Amino acid sequence: MSSLVLDRIGQLVTNDPGVGDGSPLGQLHDAAVVLDHGRVQWVGPAEGAPAADERVDAGGRCVLPGFVDSHSHLVFAGDRTTEFEARMTGQPYTAGGIRTTVAATQAATNDELAATLDRHLEEMRRQGTTTVEVKSGYGLTTADEARALRIAAQRTSETSFLGAHVVPAEYVDDPAGYVELVTGEMLAACAPHARWVDVFCEQGAFDADQARTVLAAGAEHGLGARVHGNQLGPGPGVQVAVETGAASVDHCTHLSATDVEALAGSSTVATLLPGVEFSTRSPYPPARALLDAGATVALASDCNPGSSYTSSIPLCIALAVREMHMSPAEALWAATAGGAAALRRTDVGTLRPGARADVILLDAPSYVHLAYRPGVPLVHQVWLGGNPHTVSQRGFGPLGS
Ligand code: NIG
Ligand code: FE
Repeated sequence: MSSLVLDRIGQLVTNDPGVGDGSPLGQLHDAAVVLDHGRVQWVGPAEGAPAADERVDAGGRCVLPGFVDSHSHLVFAGDRTTEFEARMTGQPYTAGGIRTTVAATQAATNDELAATLDRHLEEMRRQGTTTVEVKSGYGLTTADEARALRIAAQRTSETSFLGAHVVPAEYVDDPAGYVELVTGEMLAACAPHARWVDVFCEQGAFDADQARTVLAAGAEHGLGARVHGNQLGPGPGVQVAVETGAASVDHCTHLSATDVEALAGSSTVATLLPGVEFSTRSPYPPARALLDAGATVALASDCNPGSSYTSSIPLCIALAVREMHMSPAEALWAATAGGAAALRRTDVGTLRPGARADVILLDAPSYVHLAYRPGVPLVHQVWLGGNPHTVSQRGFGPLGS
């Protein structure tokens, strides 16, 4: 693989606080990055950049680490346009629609599921996402959950077993029997294809004790814990996540002061999913309270056909800034280094030498434009492990033209 120098970078975000201005974003101006053998090899001032086989002139633009989307549900079939339309005319979101997607997913062929997954992964890449976590959870039988994870694991190492998404129709009178299935036969079939175990700990899904049982069973199979919690109302999700040492608790829409304090005193990342609040007309999570208390915050898409059918991290950043009062710098960090922390990864979400060469070139002078110019496709080019993934077919004239 040939080496590449990306130079004349107007604003370079490294997420290495030891570099540049000393802020968490580790920003450099008039900078260069060298990519070699799939890794970041060198970062520094443009005039000191070592030679490389190829050169890309950033023309004063902004360069960032690729986005790390730590929460998605991309193995599914069908869509829920009708449910969305009804919601926009006043119906509440209840998560009951999950069963609609389960029926469509069970009826789909492997090839159909794989093609839908590939289409959404490509959509994500074009918008700058270079690491993505994918959950099961629309299969809800041993065979359907295992095939979802098998298909996902062929495309990403970040796979989560979410058999405990909802209790399927055939078990409504026997939820304990379903937990037994999830923690027994289903987990045994899914664990070889998963890195994580996840559970929807919410009224109407799984209670605190059931969630603990699911996470403990996952741990016995070597799976790290993640939790969907406090989405539809206050509840025990955050507390369960913190007490079990989960890597992340996701949604965090309805938090008490105790929840915020618990997250701030823990290594559990609070992953906020503003695409959900946007698409379900719900109140946004208290990002300011979390950040001000010292909690680690990540932003992710939660891309799924029900509560948040967006694959766009730039949209999530814009919502976090506009609706959740995160600064553009906090939002960018949360969508890169924060996502990496939520996946317990140190090789992505940063452009420190040695990190994976996952890089975004924006057609903008500053990352602030991600929030300032919402809905505009600013991601010009993406490198995945050093390989160029061209996004924009537009010409690339002088900045400002
Ligand atoms: O993360 N909260 C639970 N699960 C998904 C929603 C899935 C759906 O509505 O299909 C979520 O929002
Ligand atoms: Fe989710």
